[in-house]
Amino acid sequence: MTLEHRRAIFLQEIGVGAVWVRRDTAHSDQTADIDRVTDTINAASYATQSQTVTLGAVNPSATLPASTGASPASTDAAWDESPLATDPATLPSTAEIALMDWPQLQAAVSACRGCDLCQKRSQTVFGSGDRQAKWLFVGEGPGRTEDQQGAPFVGTAGKLLDAMLSALNLQRDANVYLSNVVKCRSTDAHGADHAPSPQQIALCKPYLERQIALLQPTVIVALGKTAAQALLGCDPGTSLSSLRGQLHRAHQCPTVVTYHPAYLLRKPIAKREAWDDLCLALRTYADQTANPSAE
Ligand code: URA
Repeated sequence: MTLEHRRAIFLQEIGVGAVWVRRDTAHSDQTADIDRVTDTINAASYATQSQTVTLGAVNPSATLPASTGASPASTDAAWDESPLATDPATLPSTAEIALMDWPQLQAAVSACRGCDLCQKRSQTVFGSGDRQAKWLFVGEGPGRTEDQQGAPFVGTAGKLLDAMLSALNLQRDANVYLSNVVKCRSTDAHGADHAPSPQQIALCKPYLERQIALLQPTVIVALGKTAAQALLGCDPGTSLSSLRGQLHRAHQCPTVVTYHPAYLLRKPIAKREAWDDLCLALRTYADQTANPSAE
């Protein structure tokens, strides 16, 4: 399959509709590379399926006040009455987090009341997927649906992400790990999903850093500006467009920046640019697999 055909499938998969497919493929070397990579990923997905671990809901009642008996789907109103407040003592030090294994890290996130986001969450959203995965996709933070279900990218943006993964021959829970910059839902004054603050991101960051260290992915894909800025340590004023189209390194891992799927839902025309970003990620994966020490 040529790269042009793969692009057509991608655009079809993510809902752009029928696209023109060029008959001649000017970039035949690149095409062959991408095909090799996606074939490899496909093969790897079968090899790693037995190691798949689905994370997510981690005994959410453990963070609930016993008196409320509230379920994970409790309303915000129930949480407003919660006597539990922020407790920085529940936030382990960065040094402690850096020594944690997966179960310890997951338990620490579940118990965390280190910032005000804990007060309205239904549950934490740790991350999910294959802990042997070579691909890590990082979003901003859980939205309403993720907060209710305890798993990342399970709402409408998540469905688009699944289609994007599928176009790359990747699949959540098979050969990909999904995580977020913050592990609790952030809302505005009206209860709508909202980007986390720099302080909330800074407090939660050691958890993501430990996930990256445990996973040691070959490629990280940062979904959206918040994820890109957090991963790359950029100034909050840094634009997404200035970060796209080039290879970065986040915590020693090659990192590609692309649009957040929620943005792509609002602005479908940008899906074409997203495909360019994902091609860069695929080429990076190929380069890294062929030559792991390559810069
Ligand atoms: N948006 C994100 O950034 N992460 C999710 O998990 C869901 C929506």
